[in-house]
Amino acid sequence: MNDDQPICLCFGVAKRKVVQFIRTEHPKTASQLSECFGAGTGCGWCRPYLEQLWKSETPESEALPDADQYAIDRQKYRDAK
Ligand code: FES
Repeated sequence: MNDDQPICLCFGVAKRKVVQFIRTEHPKTASQLSECFGAGTGCGWCRPYLEQLWKSETPESEALPDADQYAIDRQKYRDAK
């Protein structure tokens, strides 16, 4: 996934937006990332990845899954719910 691809597919929130939010707003909890265009408040698939960025000292450098595989896995997650 590159920085311009959505980490939150429900709301189309790009990784870059989340990293910028972390850098500028310094959220105290991962759940506060929901204030970044609603990230994580839909199906919930992206929450572990949002938490990964939030926990990281260098969120811009965090490797996330390939965007196509990420979308496929998210669809499986949604289908299983
Ligand atoms: S992908 Fe982020 S809440 Fe569904």
